Amino acid sequence: MKLLEERILKDGIALNENVLKVDSFLNHQVDVNLMDKIGDEFYSLFKNKNIDKVITIEASGIAPAYATAIKLNVPLVILKKNQSNILNSNLYTTVVHSFTKNIDYNITCSQKFLLPNENILFIDDFLANGEAVLGAYRLCKMANCNLVGVGIVIEKSFQPGRKKLENLKLNIHSLARIEKLSKGEIIFK
Ligand code: G4P
Repeated sequence: MKLLEERILKDGIALNENVLKVDSFLNHQVDVNLMDKIGDEFYSLFKNKNIDKVITIEASGIAPAYATAIKLNVPLVILKKNQSNILNSNLYTTVVHSFTKNIDYNITCSQKFLLPNENILFIDDFLANGEAVLGAYRLCKMANCNLVGVGIVIEKSFQPGRKKLENLKLNIHSLARIEKLSKGEIIFK
């Protein structure tokens, strides 16, 4: 997505070889007009997939997921994150490991909001190691629904996530794919 790449070049800050700071328009302050166009883009990519629901994980996935769900005119379900181990029989729960933050956390979803045979689109802001997407994939499996698409705003293609997801044959689209980061430099694929 050209507009997004231009914005990343203008306002994104490559802190080092691994981390791109985009807090002025994507995950702290949010440019709502850009988000609206991101929603249009994901709509065009996934409109023929009979999507029943968009899902994301709190917190930074919410803005692009909302923008997409409103274009598709379907509900948005926000998977909740917590670090507690309280068992609740009404929840689907799985553990996700974040390599970036070096923590494990649970993602949970009420069983009311993921129903058998629903077609699900997962949207997130970043794809790094792919663990968040894999967690969402496991929750969909538990609920017997179909993860028919994965939409990512910024993919760091040099990290392992993309490959892990391709191995599962997931239908994945990233709006900006970054080949290489180094301090002060951003190169797209
Ligand atoms: P993975 O899901 O692809 O395995 O990625 P990983 O756990 O390694 O990192 C995911 C978390 O780190 C996400 O935030 C994601 O937004 C953030 N992240 C990863 N790479 C970058 C980056 O280059 N720049 C920025 N700004 N963030 C990055 P999170 O833990 O889910 O937190 P939240 O912000 O959504 O609450």
